[in-house]
Amino acid sequence: MTDSFSRRDLIAHTLPAMALGAAVLSGVDALAQDKPASAAAPESAVMKMLAAAQKDGVYSLPKLPYEYAALEPHIDAQTMELHHSKHHAAYVTNLNKAIDSLAKLRDEPEIDAAKLSALSRDISFNAGGHILHTVFFGTMTDQTKPGGGGGGDGDGGVHGAINSQYGSLDKFKTHFTKVAAGVKGSGWAIAWYEPVADKILITESGDQDLRMIPGGMPILLIDVWEHAYYLKHQNKRADYISAWWNVVRWSEVDNLYRNVKSMTRRM
Ligand SMILES: [Fe+2]
Repeated sequence: MTDSFSRRDLIAHTLPAMALGAAVLSGVDALAQDKPASAAAPESAVMKMLAAAQKDGVYSLPKLPYEYAALEPHIDAQTMELHHSKHHAAYVTNLNKAIDSLAKLRDEPEIDAAKLSALSRDISFNAGGHILHTVFFGTMTDQTKPGGGGGGDGDGGVHGAINSQYGSLDKFKTHFTKVAAGVKGSGWAIAWYEPVADKILITESGDQDLRMIPGGMPILLIDVWEHAYYLKHQNKRADYISAWWNVVRWSEVDNLYRNVKSMTRRM
């Protein structure tokens, strides 16, 4: 097994939607080929970003689909720049480093169990950080573009699913907001598409360890690490969560939901 192959293999297995890994890497075009064009899932900005989250088997930092200042006044440009170019970039760098270190460790006469354990945790932490940030950034919207305002009511397939499962979008948002506000320390609130029962489930995660739903895919999530909001909102996490709802790109959440559902419900 070449190093390049092992990296690609790892990418496929560490994407939150494990069952989706290969499909994402092959791009949404492959999906369209299997179905009539009219029935194909819509193009998804997040899917494109996930496809750009690796290059030739090495993890890489995908570009944002907007400028750092595009989420003003809700999320400030400096926070976005630091969050993407420093924090997210660090997860990518450290993920690749951990993979390289593991390859070296495997070549040693005897694998050190403590090193292996530490590096295994590094993989989980940094792969989680890389993928979660990619989906997080991809589901927020450019405030400077006409019609790019975000916020408001969700529509499309995800809106119907939320209504039928949560009673209303308001109930979903209240539930999600409470989870995000209640994360102890650093972490995330994540709404997953869960394909086995065709449900949208909300979980919380500590740090970047997903406590994932196997086979599920995050379709809407908020980063509540302090680096995501402290420059503008200081200790007022609730204000940040409230501001974030204004930049949720519901059209992309819906695109993502339709893509994930289309792929996983065929399995
Ligand atoms: Fe973050």
